[in-house]
Amino acid sequence: MSSSQKEQNRLATPMAKSLWVSLILFMFLNSQLPSSQAQQEYVNNKQLDCDSGIIYNATFGNLCNSVSHSCNSYLTFRSIAPLYNTPSSIAFLLNSDPSAIAKANNISDVAPIADNTIVIVPVNCSCSGKYYQYNASYVLKQQGETYFSVANNTYQALTTCQAIENQNVYDKRNLSAGMKLNVPLRCACPTKKQEDSGFKYLLTYLVAQGESVDTIGAQFGVDGQSVSDANELSANAFIFYFTPILVPLRKEPNPIKVASPPPPPPSPPPPAASSTDSSSSKKGVIIGVTVGAVLILLIGLSGFLFWSRRRRHRKSQLPSSAPKSIETNKKTVDSGGTTQSWSISSEGIRYAIDSLTVYRFEDLQKATSFFSEANKIKGSVYRATFKGDDAAVKIYKGDVSKEIGILKRLNHTNITRLSGFCVHKGDTYLVYEFADNGSLDDWLHPKDKIKNNFQDSSSTILNWRQRVQIAHDIADTLNYLHNYTNPPYIHKNLQSGNVLLDGNFRAKVSNFALARVLEDDEEEGGFQVTRHVIGTQGYMAPEYIENGMITPKMDVFALGVVILELISGKEAIVGEDKLLSSCVKEVLEGDNVREKLRGFVDPSFGDEYPLDLVYSMAQVAKRCVERDMNTRPVISEVLMTLSKIQSSTLDWDPSDELDRSRSVSKVSGAR
Ligand SMILES: *[C@@H]1O[C@H](CO)[C@@H](O)[C@H](O)[C@H]1NC(C)=O
Ligand SMILES: *[C@@H]1O[C@H](CO)[C@@H](O)[C@H](O)[C@H]1NC(C)=O
Ligand SMILES: *[C@@H]1O[C@H](CO)[C@@H](O)[C@H](O)[C@H]1NC(C)=O
Ligand SMILES: *[C@@H]1O[C@H](CO)[C@@H](O)[C@H](O)[C@H]1NC(C)=O
Ligand SMILES: *[C@@H]1O[C@H](CO)[C@@H](O)[C@H](O)[C@H]1NC(C)=O
Ligand SMILES: *[C@@H]1O[C@H](CO)[C@@H](O)[C@H](O)[C@H]1NC(C)=O
Repeated sequence: MSSSQKEQNRLATPMAKSLWVSLILFMFLNSQLPSSQAQQEYVNNKQLDCDSGIIYNATFGNLCNSVSHSCNSYLTFRSIAPLYNTPSSIAFLLNSDPSAIAKANNISDVAPIADNTIVIVPVNCSCSGKYYQYNASYVLKQQGETYFSVANNTYQALTTCQAIENQNVYDKRNLSAGMKLNVPLRCACPTKKQEDSGFKYLLTYLVAQGESVDTIGAQFGVDGQSVSDANELSANAFIFYFTPILVPLRKEPNPIKVASPPPPPPSPPPPAASSTDSSSSKKGVIIGVTVGAVLILLIGLSGFLFWSRRRRHRKSQLPSSAPKSIETNKKTVDSGGTTQSWSISSEGIRYAIDSLTVYRFEDLQKATSFFSEANKIKGSVYRATFKGDDAAVKIYKGDVSKEIGILKRLNHTNITRLSGFCVHKGDTYLVYEFADNGSLDDWLHPKDKIKNNFQDSSSTILNWRQRVQIAHDIADTLNYLHNYTNPPYIHKNLQSGNVLLDGNFRAKVSNFALARVLEDDEEEGGFQVTRHVIGTQGYMAPEYIENGMITPKMDVFALGVVILELISGKEAIVGEDKLLSSCVKEVLEGDNVREKLRGFVDPSFGDEYPLDLVYSMAQVAKRCVERDMNTRPVISEVLMTLSKIQSSTLDWDPSDELDRSRSVSKVSGAR
């Protein structure tokens, strides 16, 4: 029997510390197989040979040799915290459906699963060319990931490096974070023979240490022989841990209740492997990580040494075994300003896939005419059209899961609605509802011909009524954020560029990238403080700039600045470096307030503004931008004052103003 001709080596390399290299001559096994079985060939350990270029058909997938072209089938995945331990996150990785996973495993949709639990994942298996496969996709998250690490470590051997390489254009030596890989997962449909024996499904199972075809079959209520047959394994064949094996099922699999034994220890397996020489009649168990036996037979020892050196090199690039490379990764990442080099955390994904559309990158390309200049709104924002509906697509570099998480919880007509997202090559594309009239900033401080894009090109300035409405809308939104959400939020980056205008010139507050939760202790007089002061010049409250203090009053300050912009049409920073917020005092204090105020008001109004109401607005703004945050009003008070101004504005008739400027005798506000 070939299995007794075994040889073991221990490499005098760091790799040998964690790996036993067992050289096993199983080549003859295949030739002994009865060819009539015609089921699926067990992948064995050929999946480890990523570099030799030798083609092993079994590594590409299970042959499309069965009755049907597609079928329901099952994968198994061992939950692993923190990334893949909920139905949603596992579904995201394996492109399945969270509720189907929850149902198949009789668990809750959202609750975390205990580590190393075998999770059954239903997928629709289908033929793709010669092989069965189920498509998932994966965005490389960090430097050092390889086709092998993705196949073995991330996807738990549900695919192989060879299959991934075969279906992706990227050179395997030139992978970098952000690349999106097609990941063909191994699956299969029952053959005629299996159907005749009553088998309906095939489940792809990941072999764990110490398991045999018998114990695996027993978990799913089938005998070991059926498992052996399904994988074209002869009676005494070995199976290896961390390889996929097919389990034929007569009915849908039952939820697996107990967590499986702990994962294989990193230390080498006991020298049991050598003792199997004597007990080689024991059916189908091999314990140990074995490397490349076929390879050695085929290309000889020198080739093997070369290869193992390469493997070692590759392994040393994996973060788990190379603290050095982690250090460098961290450094480059941190200097980039974000804590993660990839775009979206698993938490973000969980929220996202609950309710948002996950767009395909190709669809975004189509919708934005390939991100053409013509579709560019400004910066990294593009106009997109999905089935006739407009949307705005914003491209983000860093981790935006926080913004997604926040927007998902907010529901207010004056907050830009997020409809979906797409992660592609390390960038995240957020898809928002479209604001027909662009940003407030563009209207108040027109810099270029941007207005040509606007829907309503007849009006080129915002009138007084519209401006009051906008101020009111923003205050309403802030009031909602500070007082009506659970938990309450601080926007932290309110500015006219972040206020969008819809077709009716109603405000939509956007850009929640800096928003943060208002913590409990603030209500008791404590304050959140940050050393990391970021925001927009001209809108940041003094206590935030000077002491990093984060309170709702910083939003009130920013609102005050926006109101001053609405009144004056000036930018938040006037001239060299004079702040708009510091101008208002000069205007409203001392003599000749009326004249000074007229001089301050946006000249594009002409005479069409009610000076009394402008004065009231300017008063509110002045209080909002008080240097001492304790003298600033709270947002609910600002909202109330703005409501009064707004209702007076509704009573105001611009023609009165014209008349009044002609005839001094007219009474203000009379109609
Ligand atoms: C692998 O597939 C190729 C192409 O279909 C075929 O010619 C070859 O015989 C197969 N090799 C093995 C070992 O089955
Ligand atoms: C699913 O779980 C519930 C309780 O958690 C249990 O009562 C029920 O029997 C389980 N169903 C199956 C099919 O295991
Ligand atoms: C498989 O296909 C069926 C119908 O064709 C669909 O309802 C189901 O959601 C699919 N399952 C997965 C995991 O994609
Ligand atoms: C899976 O991806 C391959 C290309 O990688 C494609 O040819 C095949 O049609 C896809 N299968 C399904 C079901 O989308
Ligand atoms: C494959 O992945 C598992 C789980 O991460 C790991 O324990 C094992 O060492 C890996 N195999 C190799 C050859 O790196
Ligand atoms: C590796 O990728 C970079 C950019 O992604 C490219 O410029 C370079 O030519 C590639 N090198 C190889 C060997 O493919």
